[in-house]
Amino acid sequence: MTQQSTVLVLGASRGLGFALTKEWLERGWRVIATVRTPSNELTDLGARFPGSLEIETVDVANADSVKALRDRLSGRHLDVLYINAGIARSIEKSPAVADECDFLDMMLVNAFSPVRAAELLGDLVPAGGTIAIMTSELGSIQNANGSWQLYSSSKAALNMLMKGYAAQHAEERHTLLLVAPGWVRTEMGGSNALLSIEESIPLVVDMVEANRGKPGLRYVDRFNATLPW
Ligand SMILES: NC(=O)c1ccc[n+]([C@@H]2O[C@H](COP(=O)([O-])OP(=O)(O)OC[C@H]3O[C@@H](n4cnc5c(N)ncnc54)[C@H](OP(=O)(O)O)[C@@H]3O)[C@@H](O)[C@H]2O)c1
Repeated sequence: MTQQSTVLVLGASRGLGFALTKEWLERGWRVIATVRTPSNELTDLGARFPGSLEIETVDVANADSVKALRDRLSGRHLDVLYINAGIARSIEKSPAVADECDFLDMMLVNAFSPVRAAELLGDLVPAGGTIAIMTSELGSIQNANGSWQLYSSSKAALNMLMKGYAAQHAEERHTLLLVAPGWVRTEMGGSNALLSIEESIPLVVDMVEANRGKPGLRYVDRFNATLPW
């Protein structure tokens, strides 16, 4: 019998992280999904897949919280570590008018914390495994058009930090993916977004699976197309 593959999804209470969890459960995977506060939706999902969903409590912006998860998962192997957690604040504002705390919070949650989580949890992923982080099409400096400029900057910073991570951890032979899921109707994406969750997340999971065993860093969209930095 083949062993059940395992994915850890950081930030799975709702939106895209919840959908990733559901998609991988439906594909027969074991999922460790994290929340900051209890999510009834996730608990109900677990009841549909007995024994395959574990729910952990983690705040990615808190190093001790991530380290405590690392300790609880000691001895486990992750086929995929998927860092999804993210926030969007002051989305239509420029630096002259935005609350600077909004920008600092986004830099902490969207850029610094995901890469710190990769550093703290990456040794649970064996060679050949995958570390994926949710970035955005808006993180592309080349394609930037000024929309959501503070949020976009935090995703560009995430991409840059992952360049550093990839260089420093090349010998670990991980597949490293910066994933742009498209503009999706979630609390963050809003009701005007182009895509439903169902139009994005199954393709994202297909793309992650297609990149399995291909070490190195890629900035990719849900169709597995490489995006310009
Ligand atoms: N929707 C889009 O169009 C779109 C496009 C490109 C990229 N993305 C990216 O995709 C990811 C998910 O976005 P979404 O649309 O699903 O947003 P969402 O509906 O607002 O959900 C955000 C998720 O991140 C979690 N989170 C936020 N801060 C966290 C923290 N400090 N620690 C742990 N979890 C935290 C939230 O948990 P709580 O419930 O505890 O707040 C929630 O589960 C984000 O990284 C976002 O930037 C989204």
